[in-house]
Amino acid sequence: MIYDLEWENYIGTLFSKIIKNYYYVPQIAVEILPGFKVKGAITLKNLNFTGTLYVIDENRKVCKFIEEEYKKFIPKAKIITICKNLKYCLGDIPANIDLLIGNHCIDDIILSNYMIKKGSRMYPDNKRALENKWEDIKENTLLCKNACDDAYEIFYNIFKTKNINYVILSQYKSNVFLTNSFAHDVSKEVFDKIKLFVKEEDSNYFLKNIHPFKKDERYLLPSLLSNVQDSVNWIIGKPVKEIETIFNIMKDPYYSVLFKRTKNIKLCFESGFINTPPVKYNDNILTTPLNKIHIDDTVTNPVVLLSTGGFNPIHNGHILMLKKAKNMLENYGYDVIGAFLSPSHESYVSTKENYIDNQFDRLNYNYKILQNYDWINIDTWESLCNDRYINFTIVIDRLEKYLRRFVRSDIKVAYVCGDDNIYFMNVFKEKGLGICVERNNPRFDMISRQIFSPNIFYIKDAVITDSSRNMRKIPQKIDFNGTYIIRDEGILPFKNINAPEKEKIKAQEFFKKNFLKIIKKYIPLEVKFVNVEEEVKNAKKKLKNVNTLSIDTFFTGKYNLDISRQFYFSDAQITNTKLVESPFSKNLEMQIKDLPNETFTLVDDDSVSGKTISLLKEKINLDNIFLLSSVYKGDIFDVIDLRDFIFGTYKSGLVVDFFNKNIRVPYIYPYVNLYTRANIIDAKSFTREIINLNIAMYKNFFPSLMADSLDSSFIMLCEKQGFKTDVPAYMTIQNFLI
Ligand SMILES: C[S@@+](CC[C@H](N)C(=O)[O-])C[C@H]1O[C@@H](n2cnc3c(N)ncnc32)[C@H](O)[C@@H]1O
Repeated sequence: MIYDLEWENYIGTLFSKIIKNYYYVPQIAVEILPGFKVKGAITLKNLNFTGTLYVIDENRKVCKFIEEEYKKFIPKAKIITICKNLKYCLGDIPANIDLLIGNHCIDDIILSNYMIKKGSRMYPDNKRALENKWEDIKENTLLCKNACDDAYEIFYNIFKTKNINYVILSQYKSNVFLTNSFAHDVSKEVFDKIKLFVKEEDSNYFLKNIHPFKKDERYLLPSLLSNVQDSVNWIIGKPVKEIETIFNIMKDPYYSVLFKRTKNIKLCFESGFINTPPVKYNDNILTTPLNKIHIDDTVTNPVVLLSTGGFNPIHNGHILMLKKAKNMLENYGYDVIGAFLSPSHESYVSTKENYIDNQFDRLNYNYKILQNYDWINIDTWESLCNDRYINFTIVIDRLEKYLRRFVRSDIKVAYVCGDDNIYFMNVFKEKGLGICVERNNPRFDMISRQIFSPNIFYIKDAVITDSSRNMRKIPQKIDFNGTYIIRDEGILPFKNINAPEKEKIKAQEFFKKNFLKIIKKYIPLEVKFVNVEEEVKNAKKKLKNVNTLSIDTFFTGKYNLDISRQFYFSDAQITNTKLVESPFSKNLEMQIKDLPNETFTLVDDDSVSGKTISLLKEKINLDNIFLLSSVYKGDIFDVIDLRDFIFGTYKSGLVVDFFNKNIRVPYIYPYVNLYTRANIIDAKSFTREIINLNIAMYKNFFPSLMADSLDSSFIMLCEKQGFKTDVPAYMTIQNFLI
């Protein structure tokens, strides 16, 4: 016999007494994960069970054992074994279940989920092997967390899809875990979350007074009374109706804390919770600009402020609120190193009165307003990287993780809101930082006295009267007019791609043809390609005996400067920051120094701005400027370079300050502001199309070309975001999809 009958009897008696206490005789029962044990059979024997019992255990031998052994205890019952993983047996058990029991099974489910993730199916068959397995789990924090989440979701799915009258689950410290508290702690955490799905009976007194061993001294062992017979280690009751809401709350990093403490769903809703399924997002993408975050080694307690809302548009009230919050926190010893305004998702903003379409027009109008503030920026993640309106707590959590990963690991995000959202402060009682600024809520004083903690700050008499309602301006829109020119560089940008020229030509033609189709959807103008090679040839003819100094990528002058205008990544990019040497090129000052003391004709494409020229004029003698684009006829609306949209090609993309390095980033959201840089309004869908076009081009024409053979800028962008580059390029590019 594998089991210890005395122990089986003890636990079985506890189960049956609990059930009897509630005067309930089940007809349809389900037992999960019995192993080579008979506790379930003894439980049901004590109840004179004659109904149908479904037993789930993925081990074939266990199922055989159950079929043979259980008959001896409950001969009149119908026993159906389901030899499957619990995750996959929803279809095998009935919709209506009177009783669901499981003894000490959470740890086993976590363990089996972990092993599935690791790809091993050698289930430990003795105490030592089990202990070793848990040592292994302890080392693998991420896999362990995933295995726990899976275990939790298995119960969520069972409770959600089945109509269960009564659940009894136990998770006391077993003899295996008396020495290994990690396994118990991890299992208990999942168990406690599952507990929240059940409306529990108050069973502590009752449990402690079950005397299965009669007057036997074993019963008096403290380990039994304070462990096995302690109600904290039992789930006894009926699953609640609001299970989906609870699941969603528990997946939220802030509301879960509030709910665990209060068990009050209504309070979560009052505190702003919106009942929406957990958000899944690509957390690698550098969506949020970091140029207005100011941190150095002297900063010891860094905080970044965050406010969410319609910002329809941003007005003085918003700015004042942030300034007040900054002062307040700094008085309390925090270092406010920057602030973000996060516009809400369009599905929310569009429900507001005075809604201003279009979201990109509004966004860029808001960027302009913030140009005068070097510490406040916009975070577009919430509005552009989600498919629906999400809880503000997710925005806080995401931003904090982002800043900790890409800036410094001790940054905290403090949430700032007006007193119309004063109840939001409930979520900051135990976690995070919340600041509520008084505006005109007459109950401000009363509520602020009720919701308090060291994490919560109130700012009284802020005199913030400006509201979006009385300050509507129509954001400036793009005035489309003229011709949109695309400079086609042929295969020049493919020069570092290791492939036959024939293939490069075909790939470039494929890209060009499809790019035209895409761009036409976004630019309501005549779109024309100009051939850069011809353009260069013609210019060469014209400038034959001229002392040229070229700053164009493809025109080789008598002298050349390899320089670019530099921007900040994922920022407004309304103007460039400065003139720099091109990425991986010789220092700008050195390049200028190397030039002879002569007077030059400057050659560039069309994008040379007055600012660039005046910067250059300070250092170099220029008597003339030749723009390659000057040959374009008619009214030119904008000129873009096709290569900027082809990932990883030679000198493609916008030059940005990238964590104090100088690199190029492809012309897609979020790295490049397509509105200011290319007059493309719907950055989001345009980006998706461009990424898919790049994937298609690399997959069709260079299927085995590895990402790490592409341009160095592209590799750096990938590596910073944690994308693998030792795989084919098209695979790496898939990671850019948001
Ligand atoms: C140690 S036993 C469970 C403990 C037992 N209930 C008791 O009271 O002692 C573990 C059993 O769970 C089964 N098992 C583990 N994870 C499972 C899963 N996810 N689905 C189905 N069976 C699983 C294993 O096959 C094994 O027979």
